Amino acid sequence: MIDSEKIGKVLYGGDYNPEQWPEEVWEEDMRLFKLAGIDIVTLNVFSWAALQPDENTYCFDKLDKIMNLVTENGLKVCLATSTGAHPAWMAHRHPDILRTEFNGMKRKFGGRHNSCPNSPTFQLYSVRLAKKLAERYKGYDNLVAWHVGNEYGGECYCENCEAAFRVWLKQKYGTLEALNKAWNTAFWGHTFYDWEEIVVPNLLSEHFEEDRTMFQGISLDYRRFNSDSLLKCYEAEAAAIRSVIPDAQITTNLMGFYKSLDYQKWADSMDFISWDNYPANEDPYARMAMNHDLMRGIKGGKPFVLMEQTPSVTNWLAYNALKRPDVMRLWSYQAMAHGADAVMFFQMRRSIGACEKYHGAVIDHVGHENTRVFREIQAMGKELEVLGDETLGARGAAKIALLADWDNWWSVEYSAGPSRDLKYLDELFLYYRALEEQNFQVDIIGMKDDFSKYQVVLAPILYMTKGTVDEKIRKFVQEGGTFLTTFFSGMVEEHDLVVTGGYPGRLRDILGIWVEESDALPSQAANHFSYKGTEYPAVLLCDLMHLEGAESESFYQEDFYAGMPVWTKHHFGKGNAVYVGTRSNLEFYKRFLRDLCEENGISPALETAEGVEVTERLKEGKSILFVLNHTEEAQSVRLEKTRKDLLTGEVLPEGTELFLAKKDVKILKEL
Ligand code: GLA
Ligand code: ZN
Repeated sequence: MIDSEKIGKVLYGGDYNPEQWPEEVWEEDMRLFKLAGIDIVTLNVFSWAALQPDENTYCFDKLDKIMNLVTENGLKVCLATSTGAHPAWMAHRHPDILRTEFNGMKRKFGGRHNSCPNSPTFQLYSVRLAKKLAERYKGYDNLVAWHVGNEYGGECYCENCEAAFRVWLKQKYGTLEALNKAWNTAFWGHTFYDWEEIVVPNLLSEHFEEDRTMFQGISLDYRRFNSDSLLKCYEAEAAAIRSVIPDAQITTNLMGFYKSLDYQKWADSMDFISWDNYPANEDPYARMAMNHDLMRGIKGGKPFVLMEQTPSVTNWLAYNALKRPDVMRLWSYQAMAHGADAVMFFQMRRSIGACEKYHGAVIDHVGHENTRVFREIQAMGKELEVLGDETLGARGAAKIALLADWDNWWSVEYSAGPSRDLKYLDELFLYYRALEEQNFQVDIIGMKDDFSKYQVVLAPILYMTKGTVDEKIRKFVQEGGTFLTTFFSGMVEEHDLVVTGGYPGRLRDILGIWVEESDALPSQAANHFSYKGTEYPAVLLCDLMHLEGAESESFYQEDFYAGMPVWTKHHFGKGNAVYVGTRSNLEFYKRFLRDLCEENGISPALETAEGVEVTERLKEGKSILFVLNHTEEAQSVRLEKTRKDLLTGEVLPEGTELFLAKKDVKILKEL
């Protein structure tokens, strides 16, 4: 879908549910879409019950009409398979399709994300429907993308899942001996003698809370299994579509840093990445940026589609504040700044019943175009026409990579100890934010990705060193890279079994340290240290470490470990390995990482006032800067070279002091 050659502009549109409306309204929708510059609609997201009234009857009449209508009106289509919510009759007649929750409660029909991924009923009918849709609509040239399911997520703990889990385990471990070893079942007498003895880890078995388990090994494997189970559902539908349309462009809408699904694994099965961005107004802009960068990163830096965002308001937050004037535009361009080649909304027309009737839409309940929100959408639509294909296909040029890994995320948060406040994403975000807010370009990569194209690789809380990742890091540093990791790293291997012989395990020689102990500080407590003449707090965890070749300039100032190093740097081969043994505040990370970047000859895309974000993308060797003023005041930036303003066509010579009104955006291409 995001083939710039074919499309020629940033696609603009969103989820359209005409089936919820009488046909008289459809023509008016078409008029309003044209007015707003809409060129793509996502159809059929939740129509399973309408398309299939019973086991053997399918009815596509209404969808045919809708497809024809949008086609006649020149719209492109992203066609969903409708399997994001199953029909009531299916649940009634085939209860295996219903999920069982973490607490063991079997669900009845209702809500969505409601199908068990290991249900034979779901597997049969979802794939069959996907195939029928492909057969029926394969001739439509405007069908540019397939949208399988919707926001896959959640977990199931039913008997079908339990049986499938055992099969998954057999494939993974081969023998019970290997499994007993991997899970360390000698602890608390858990040895298994028969596969049938293994039950799902939930509130009825190993857990005492959702994130608190007595056996990390089994719980971690269940997370992997659950992610794989849902992925198999996606893959089965995708394969059905592809059997009919071999070159179909297939996706499903992801959700940024969504814990339940290992998107780095999912990305391999997706033709392009799409995702739904629903920040709260008070979220720091770096938080959205981090999600965008992840979504770009899981597919090797390729552009993605912003599949959903609200034009104005959501319905599911505690306080559903309006997006302030110009913020929809600002955040749309922010998505593009980080790699989006399409900008889409949920939803096109605001529904009248059920929980999303107060969710924002392109067309509001009032039904006409004279609204603030519609005017903003229309203005943005015009701008995207002006912009054309200028930014399509552009790629990032980051020299810094941040390592993110779902196994680490899951296992860090399953670990009983050392601190309940230790959250994987919080640590990642501190490092990311410090860089992002200073306009350093960052790629978010996984363990399997190539480190060698980066000068700096940051891996906060690399708790689990899977496979041979330590070798990869060793080589990266030896060849001149700078690697950074933190406290609670190198602790375990991929089964969550401790690597003995001194922390941080397999990373110890690279980092040139030995962490003997780690002190978890209660939430209000802090130690302190100084860095380049300024004092900073040390909170959460304080590592007590010994230098084994590394050097340090900062030392704890209090407690019995006063005088021990806080962070260290080890010259290793041609590169450096840096270890930060505690958590500090954002000011520290900003200073520390800026210095680290400088040492590596990396500079920000542009120096700006706080709250002005600049990202750089490259297209055909030319730099494109996205300058985004997230602040409430007017700002200005000084151009480092002559650039063309892609939204106005104006040429701005080097040294220009460029003015941005509050929430304004500039897209500036190098000439
Ligand atoms: C999700 C879904 C949409 C809609 C929106 C509302 O992103 O994919 O169908 O429910 O939330 O915010
Ligand atoms: Zn299940």
